[in-house]
Amino acid sequence: MDITGLIESALSARKNSYAPYSDYRVGAALLCDDDTIVCGSNIENASYGATICAERCAVFSAVSTGRTVFKAIAIAGGPSSEEDVLSDLAYPCGICRQVLREFTIPDKFKVIVARSVSDYKVYTLSELLPESFGPDNLK
Ligand code: THU
Repeated sequence: MDITGLIESALSARKNSYAPYSDYRVGAALLCDDDTIVCGSNIENASYGATICAERCAVFSAVSTGRTVFKAIAIAGGPSSEEDVLSDLAYPCGICRQVLREFTIPDKFKVIVARSVSDYKVYTLSELLPESFGPDNLK
């Protein structure tokens, strides 16, 4: 897996973040099973609750264009003042973890949280969302 390329895509997607209220910009790059990369950014709203996170933006974009099986996601987030080298890792929120759970095998799906192309951590979704509830529970 080209982790560097995936992080580059997340950092690039972050530039399209619309975050005038929090000034916290997030980019996500989702690697699909056909090896395409679908990106997302956080998009805020004056009615704050209508905001969407970068990760869900990427997942919904992929699903709505016919891709529903994913291998990994890279996430890069931080204050607007920071560009390609971020001071902190941005972990996915609980709602985004659950949305990723819907379309992945938690033991296999990789979540890459990055400060830069060379400074990152890799987790499985199971590590970030243990004992999860998913589609199989409703069969
Ligand atoms: N945000 C994300 O894009 N992903 C997350 O997993 C956590 C939070 C965004 C939402 C909001 O625009 C900003 O970060 C501050 O919460």
